[in-house]
Amino acid sequence: MARVGIFGAGWVGVCTAVCFAELGHEVVVRDVVPEKVDALASGQMPFHEADVAELLERNRERIAFTLDVNDIVGCEFLFVCVDTPPTYSGDADLSRVWTVVDELPELSGHPILVMKSTVPVGTGEKVRAGLDQRGLDHVGYASNPEFLAEGTAVRDFMQPDRIVVGAFDSDDADAVASLYDKIDAPMVRSDVNSAEMIKLAANAALMTRISFINEIANVCEATGADVVKVAEGIGLDKRIGSRFLSAGIGFGGSCFPKDSLALKQLASNSGYHFQVLAAVIEVNELQKRRVIGKLTRHLGSLQGKTVALLGISYKPNTDDMREAPSIVLASRLIAEGAHVRAWDPVADVAKLPRGVEASATVLDAISGADAAVIVTEWAELAGVASDENRKAMRNPLIVDGRNLLDPDATRSAGFAYEGIGRPTAPADVRVEA
Ligand SMILES: NC(=O)c1ccc[n+]([C@@H]2O[C@H](COP(=O)([O-])OP(=O)(O)OC[C@H]3O[C@@H](n4cnc5c(N)ncnc54)[C@H](O)[C@@H]3O)[C@@H](O)[C@H]2O)c1
Repeated sequence: MARVGIFGAGWVGVCTAVCFAELGHEVVVRDVVPEKVDALASGQMPFHEADVAELLERNRERIAFTLDVNDIVGCEFLFVCVDTPPTYSGDADLSRVWTVVDELPELSGHPILVMKSTVPVGTGEKVRAGLDQRGLDHVGYASNPEFLAEGTAVRDFMQPDRIVVGAFDSDDADAVASLYDKIDAPMVRSDVNSAEMIKLAANAALMTRISFINEIANVCEATGADVVKVAEGIGLDKRIGSRFLSAGIGFGGSCFPKDSLALKQLASNSGYHFQVLAAVIEVNELQKRRVIGKLTRHLGSLQGKTVALLGISYKPNTDDMREAPSIVLASRLIAEGAHVRAWDPVADVAKLPRGVEASATVLDAISGADAAVIVTEWAELAGVASDENRKAMRNPLIVDGRNLLDPDATRSAGFAYEGIGRPTAPADVRVEA
């Protein structure tokens, strides 16, 4: 069993830590935020992610949290799991990665620095040169990108579709691969540049599918087809597959928006205009705003109207609000003069723009509202088209931004209903003054 040091106690760092500990490794996690380290050291989770707290509890004796970088001395592997947010230009900000390299204490033996943060192609070569310059040529380097999705992070780590390891030295690659010996998954071994590109390209492929189906949805709306049926019909084609074909109000989160920009910028910096990705990003931006058109079609001006946003995290089963479509939607509604209320089972409404009123329950949010918008498809919202909720609303209109509800059942329950890419019943549209 190995001793693993981890830089960064965020989603990826903590999930990696508890999963490696579950596999039997000794783990020490270093972060720079004292409150985070204190919380984790006392068994408190700083974010909402299924199964992580249980794994942390079960493996407490094999996981330590620290602020002191010297505590990673003696680890055979040093995983970099720090954030790589976008800069103003859209390029990935690697300042935290470089801080990790700069702060490495004196290390003996042959520890391997393993990059799990998502970084532009070429980063590994630069970090390798940086390590050599610092006299750390005895430190190995590998790229081991992470593909976990928030909400299913532990399952994704323990049962991955594949594990990717890119290294400059095949012994380093063997050593990193051996950490995953107990996990049954295909292992893709490559050079460092290709490993970095696999992560960016995988995200770009998933985003492309989302923007593709969203554009199909928009054409369905214009032509009277139902995108849910269309997605079913095309998804059964084995060459296409059914995943990431759910039309909605666009993607958000800590990865897709920044990684798409980073790949687009990486291409531009190399003199190539990545046209498909540019369109994917633009379609996604427009998609978040389409809800406004749906609301005005029903309500006319939104000035003074009350709109309830149901679910605000960027996707269900997480409290992550980074780049959540709800933020764009709330800003647009406030700009249109609407009164906005928001409910979410775990995410913090204070992360929405100023002026949004937090509601403790779905009923609170929709009472007296002119419209309810399903922004995030939390399972709790499956029963939202109830008699009680209809009576509580001033105007029983549901805009289903995630196609969570059955349109016919919702209309039969007395609601006007608008999905994404689904036929509109003429009786639904009642423009008010
Ligand atoms: N969140 C995801 O779903 C996901 C999935 C795959 C890959 N990734 C990638 O993994 C990386 C981390 O993502 P995240 O969501 O875990 O980020 P995060 O923001 O949740 O966590 C990053 C952590 O790193 C800490 N940190 C910053 N500088 C540090 C330093 N010098 N030493 C130690 N800790 C430091 C921060 O305080 C923070 O706690 C990013 O590159 C991201 O793109 C994220």
